[in-house]
Amino acid sequence: MSETLTFDTVDELASSLAVAVERWVKKAVEERGVAHVTLAGGSTPAALHKVLAKRDLPWSSMHFYFGDERAVPFDHADSNFRAADQSLFSLAPVVSSHIHRMPAEDRAEGARAYSESLPERMDVVLLGMGEDGHTASLFPGSAVLESTDAVLYVNDSPKPPPERLTLSFRTLNRARHVAFMIAGAGKAQAFSRVVSGELLPVARVKPDDGTLSYYVDRAAAGLA
Ligand code: 6PG
Repeated sequence: MSETLTFDTVDELASSLAVAVERWVKKAVEERGVAHVTLAGGSTPAALHKVLAKRDLPWSSMHFYFGDERAVPFDHADSNFRAADQSLFSLAPVVSSHIHRMPAEDRAEGARAYSESLPERMDVVLLGMGEDGHTASLFPGSAVLESTDAVLYVNDSPKPPPERLTLSFRTLNRARHVAFMIAGAGKAQAFSRVVSGELLPVARVKPDDGTLSYYVDRAAAGLA
């Protein structure tokens, strides 16, 4: 079962999603003393991160992971870690040892190492969607989509740079709460294909025992 929430602007989307993330995180900490949160890559999440940074979250009980990372230095302009550091980690009282950077520069060995660092289940997984319906670094037609490994090395990403690490569908689908942030007219065609049931990578993220939400702006919903 999934829900789609549509917003006039990305900022309204981010504000609403931040409320949900706070609810999910606080419940996880209340029940298990810890909240494991996977952050999305790309540019869309910055709007959410900036809102989250201002909220009263149980920061010291939160651990941060990445849905995917590019094989670039952690301070490179293409680094998802760098983006999250600028838009969230540097603005909120995050415990630095609780930031689990994805060592994509170590490629397949990095995938193995990162899989050892993952919790049994993520409490919150935040994801984006590309214009081809990819999510994380799980791209349509990729040979790795069927892998049951926890973390995958990708060397043929059609979205540069080509080399990345990504959580697999198996890992993503173990989450308690999955939320997609999808914004911009460029995403409308892919989102309509997902809604119509086409088995794009985004559509294959369906938590085994968790909630699934699509937070979409009007442009991506094809309503602009
Ligand atoms: C990446 C992302 C990727 C991203 C989508 C949307 O590292 O490229 O994880 O899956 O979420 O491509 O990217 P934008 O938010 O920049 O549109």
